Amino acid sequence: MTEVFGHEQVVFCADRQSGLRAIIAIHNTALGPGLGGTRFYPYESEQAALADVLNLSRGMAYKNALAGLDLGGGKAVIIGDPATDKSEALLRAYGRFVESLNGRYFTACDVGTYSEDMDIVARESRFVTGRTIANGGAGDSSILTSFGVFQGMRASAQHIHGRSTLHGLRVGVEGVGKVGHRLVDLLIEDGASVVVCDVSERAVDQVRQRHPQVEVVASLAELVAEEIDVFAPCALGGSLDDTTVATLRARIVCGAANNQLAHPGVEKQLEERGILYAPDYVVNSGGVIQVADEIRGFNMERARAKAGQIYDTTLKIFAIAAEEGVPPAVAADRLAERRMSEVGRLKGIWLGH
Ligand SMILES: NC(=O)c1ccc[n+]([C@@H]2O[C@H](COP(=O)([O-])OP(=O)(O)OC[C@H]3O[C@@H](n4cnc5c(N)ncnc54)[C@H](O)[C@@H]3O)[C@@H](O)[C@H]2O)c1
Repeated sequence: MTEVFGHEQVVFCADRQSGLRAIIAIHNTALGPGLGGTRFYPYESEQAALADVLNLSRGMAYKNALAGLDLGGGKAVIIGDPATDKSEALLRAYGRFVESLNGRYFTACDVGTYSEDMDIVARESRFVTGRTIANGGAGDSSILTSFGVFQGMRASAQHIHGRSTLHGLRVGVEGVGKVGHRLVDLLIEDGASVVVCDVSERAVDQVRQRHPQVEVVASLAELVAEEIDVFAPCALGGSLDDTTVATLRARIVCGAANNQLAHPGVEKQLEERGILYAPDYVVNSGGVIQVADEIRGFNMERARAKAGQIYDTTLKIFAIAAEEGVPPAVAADRLAERRMSEVGRLKGIWLGH
């Protein structure tokens, strides 16, 4: 399987007493050490965990490359239920395996792991980001994730309407959790009108308390059928399937969710309908930019400036897509591969020591 995806290294980690079963995958280190979060999830089988970590670590290589980071692609999974299986001993055992890679892999939070967990992992390893602010960490990564998505949306508006603002546009946001609700703040501040949907009543109430003018619809199906200019998927992956693409009225799709395209080929369907798709892993890279900054000692202003570059990168991808006659999702992959190859190659220049 590693050969199919071209991974450099896959490490299986086990500690019987603490119950740790984990897999760390490093896709490539062409640009630097692999960085990606640790997913703690009750996988049905080791095979399912392996497939996920191979796929996710490859995705991180592309995301980090386009975020302009000197970092490669890595990811880890811990097999188990975080609610019942997480313990200090298990996290520290995991930390020792991360440490054993001697800096080839930096870990961070993902589904099922939190900054407090990273603080514990960091007691065994130097190669941990996404820690709590109290421990010198970057804190909640949704701050720059939402900021980055907003930059991607401004770039999309520039490409379609010739102006880099959402002012006067109607934006549909699916999912107003950590990232979605912050995105709504930015949109309202910019003068957009907003309609949202979320399965959590609490999440919707919180947004409405802050912004009573925000409209609410009951489901994704209703949201995509609304008269909206922009659709922002900020819930789970797979929102863009055959049905949503067929009914979608927006001309722009730009949101935070990972893996928005339900299957290969959706990017073509979007293009055929004249809908501009800002690739998910490009516009949602503000979070990884935030935690990556922690490696040098966290500075929010420096990290925010770097996340601001998502605007230019998104425009560049649209330009390459037009030039090369491919959908933006394909253009993004090509641009990432170019950076990995052109910059990664430079390590071959002998430095004499
Ligand atoms: N937090 C980050 O820094 C970050 C970074 C990159 C990507 N992402 C991605 O962005 C997305 C949102 O992340 P988050 O941190 O805000 O998560 P979150 O869990 O805080 O928020 C997700 C929201 O979506 C809602 N939701 C779930 N299923 C839904 C459905 N079927 N229809 C409508 N709403 C639904 C949930 O109720 C919740 O309010 C995820 O896909 C995540 O992988 C997050």
